[in-house]
Amino acid sequence: MAWAIPLFLITTLICSGPGLILNAAEEEDFDGVSSVCYGNSTKKNNSKNLEFQNNVHLLLSVLGYESSSLHPPLTFLNTSVGRVSDRAYGSYLCRGDLSVRQCHNCLVNLTNFMSALEIDNSECIGFGRFLWCMVRYANTPKFAVYEEGLVFSHNSIGENVSVSDYRQYNETLSNTVQGLIIEAGNGNNWDKTNFATRVVEVTGSREKIYVLVQCTADISPMDCGNCLRELYSRIPDCCNGSQGGLLIHANCLMKYNNQSFFGVANRGFLPSYIHMTFFLLLTMYFSFL
Ligand SMILES: *[C@@H]1O[C@H](CO)[C@@H](O)[C@H](O)[C@H]1NC(C)=O
Ligand SMILES: *[C@@H]1O[C@H](CO)[C@@H](O)[C@H](O)[C@H]1NC(C)=O
Ligand SMILES: *[C@@H]1O[C@H](CO)[C@@H](O)[C@H](O)[C@H]1NC(C)=O
Ligand SMILES: *[C@@H]1O[C@H](CO)[C@@H](O)[C@H](O)[C@H]1NC(C)=O
Ligand SMILES: *[C@@H]1O[C@H](CO)[C@@H](O)[C@H](O)[C@H]1NC(C)=O
Ligand SMILES: *[C@@H]1O[C@H](CO)[C@@H](O)[C@H](O)[C@H]1NC(C)=O
Ligand SMILES: *[C@@H]1O[C@H](CO)[C@@H](O)[C@H](O)[C@H]1NC(C)=O
Ligand SMILES: *[C@@H]1O[C@H](CO)[C@@H](O)[C@H](O)[C@H]1NC(C)=O
Repeated sequence: MAWAIPLFLITTLICSGPGLILNAAEEEDFDGVSSVCYGNSTKKNNSKNLEFQNNVHLLLSVLGYESSSLHPPLTFLNTSVGRVSDRAYGSYLCRGDLSVRQCHNCLVNLTNFMSALEIDNSECIGFGRFLWCMVRYANTPKFAVYEEGLVFSHNSIGENVSVSDYRQYNETLSNTVQGLIIEAGNGNNWDKTNFATRVVEVTGSREKIYVLVQCTADISPMDCGNCLRELYSRIPDCCNGSQGGLLIHANCLMKYNNQSFFGVANRGFLPSYIHMTFFLLLTMYFSFL
């Protein structure tokens, strides 16, 4: 199953790192980094574009730095760098069950990769190793709204469940995911904001399904529900009959399998006030440059 890239992204550029991920069909997780860039061209050599490119480089290093273990980092962070006219806006998301170190390593690797590429487009989204982290940047804060259709991956994982068993498997999966969608839309009762995992037993069997969902923190609970519903609607296209699936939207992700793949949500991600203060000062400093 190939990676799906929205058709309207006509000017899409696909830049892949080691271990090209766009055809990770058999891989449960992909080992490698990649990015998809779109929006307007910023290739033209003028001061506005050069400033934007500088701001993107600065932004990427801020995102990598902010996730460091020195200051307790967050699973999601958005910020911006530069003057209004050529400001770069960006965010990162780490999967909610990772340790601080796993998140940071993923982001350093990904932001280094993205920094080394030409900044030829006004918007980019990058995917880190094993899809543990994502980074976005844009020349407008509007990228932070939920936009239907920004699905970058819908891939099956593993083998097909036997046809006779899939009925029950699918029913258990559907009920679980639909429940999570409702919880997300209600502002959820999850342990962690925007992140939930479930382990459910397939009706009438001892097999289990492990489900993980997450939304970026910059969209509303309602849009988190809408985003997850959009991914859910893609399951028949990618993953009809298969034991697992990995579906990625710019604002949410969903992964499931019949074997365990996630850890316990990490408490080390709780923000500290010292850190938040420092971060706000840094943001203000860059905003008024
Ligand atoms: C691209 O540029 C056009 C014209 O300046 C503008 O209207 C449009 O919003 C830009 N699109 C993006 C994604 O930046
Ligand atoms: C961009 O323009 C500046 C000033 O005109 C020039 O010094 C620089 O070499 C140009 N860079 C490229 C990549 O064309
Ligand atoms: C981060 O996103 C929130 C919600 O969209 C927004 O209110 C805030 O201004 C953003 N912060 C930065 C630094 O861009
Ligand atoms: C990212 O990690 C991979 C695997 O460890 C490594 O091969 C690659 O050089 C790293 N890339 C960057 C830009 O750090
Ligand atoms: C699973 O079944 C589908 C048809 O339902 C088939 O196209 C696909 O190749 C099968 N995948 C595996 C891993 O057997
Ligand atoms: C997961 O599903 C595959 C395909 O039905 C099966 O071969 C495998 O044994 C299952 N794994 C577990 C842990 O149930
Ligand atoms: C799986 O369940 C959903 C929701 O009940 C249903 O729409 C879909 O057709 C089912 N798929 C299969 C292959 O049975
Ligand atoms: C899903 O698989 C089942 C059984 O192989 C098949 O009957 C059904 O048509 C498939 N649905 C889709 C949407 O491909």
